[in-house]
Amino acid sequence: MKPNNIYLNDEDKLIILDQTKLPGEEVYIELEDAKDIYDAIFHLKVRGAPAIGICGGYAMYILSKGYDDDLNVFKEKFFKDSEYLNSSRPTAVNLSWALNRMNKLVEEYKGDSADELRKLLREEAIKIQDEDIEMCKAISKNGLSLLEDGMGLLTHCNAGPMATSLYGTALGPMILGKEEGMNFHVFADETRPLLQGARLTAYELQKAGLDTTLICDNMASIVMKSGKVQAVLVGCDRIAANGDVANKIGTSGVAILAKHYNIPFYVLGPTSTLDLNCKTGEDIEIELRPEEEISTKWYEKAMAPKGVKAYNPAFDVTDHSLITAIITEKGICRPPYEESLKNL
Ligand code: MRU
Repeated sequence: MKPNNIYLNDEDKLIILDQTKLPGEEVYIELEDAKDIYDAIFHLKVRGAPAIGICGGYAMYILSKGYDDDLNVFKEKFFKDSEYLNSSRPTAVNLSWALNRMNKLVEEYKGDSADELRKLLREEAIKIQDEDIEMCKAISKNGLSLLEDGMGLLTHCNAGPMATSLYGTALGPMILGKEEGMNFHVFADETRPLLQGARLTAYELQKAGLDTTLICDNMASIVMKSGKVQAVLVGCDRIAANGDVANKIGTSGVAILAKHYNIPFYVLGPTSTLDLNCKTGEDIEIELRPEEEISTKWYEKAMAPKGVKAYNPAFDVTDHSLITAIITEKGICRPPYEESLKNL
C-alpha cells in the first residue's frame, strides 16, 4: 500500500490530499510554487507533524526544478525557499528536521550538475517518506503491545495515516489491532478550534472499521470517570530532552485528567520528533494562530461579540510527569525520560 495523502504523480507533480475539505470531500490539489506550499502548510491543508516534514522534503525537490542550472544561483535560491517554508509552522520539529536533511544534501554536494542534484533531492524526499512508513509501522506495533482486546481508548487531535504516511502514530496501534482482529472502542475528542478530531480522526477510524464515538473536548472527564477509557493515546509535535511533549492544544488537559483517573497516558511519535536541543518544554515555541479560528470560523454568524479578544495557541506542553510512556519506532521509553530518550 502507498500513502495517498502526499505523493509525486506520474507527471512528477506534488499532489496532496486537502485535509481542510474533509470529511465532506476528498479533494487532491497540486502544490507548485513556494507560496502555494507555504499556504498549504499554514492553512493546514497538509498537517500533522510527520506529514508536514514529508511535504517539506518533496516541496524542496519540486521547487529545485525551477532553479537556475548555475549551482551558486541554485543553492542561494534553495536555502532561501527552505527558510521560507520552515517559517510556516514553528512548533512541530519534523518540518525543520526534513528541510535540514534536504539542506544538508545540497550543502554537501560536490558535483557540478544541477540535474544530478535534483535527482538526489528527489531520492531523499522519497526516502523521508519511506522511512516514515516504516517508523509508523514499528510505532504501531510497539503501541499495540501495550493494549488489550476490548479496551476503551481516548485520543486527541489527529495522529492518523493522514498526519503521517501510513497507519499514523497514536491511531496506528488501533488500526493495526483492528487488522489483526482486535476490537477497541475509541473516543475521539473533537479538538477545538480546528476540529481535527471530528473531521479527521473520526473519519479515519470509521474508514478503518473501528467502533468510534465523537465527544466534545470538555466531555473527556465524564467519559473517563465512567470507566470507559483504559488508555489515552496521543501524537506529538516536539519532544524535549526531559520528556515534556508539545502536542495539539488541549492535550495537557487530557493528561491531567488521565492522571486523576489513574489511566495510562501514552505519547506516540517517531524519533524525528525528538529535539534534544530543547531541554524542557519551556524551550518549545508555541504557534499562535488567528483569533477568527475561535470566534467565526465554523459558524454562519460570528459566535462571539465583535471586537472581543481571543487567545489561540495551537499547541500546549504536557509535563513529562503526566506521561506513562513515550512510544517510538525504536522502543518504548519510560521515566526517567532524560535517560531513556538519550538511550534511543
Ligand atoms: O495543528 P495540527 O493539526 O498539525 O496538529 C497536529 C497534532 O498536534 C498531532 O497530534 C501531531 O502533529 C502528531 S501527528 C502524527
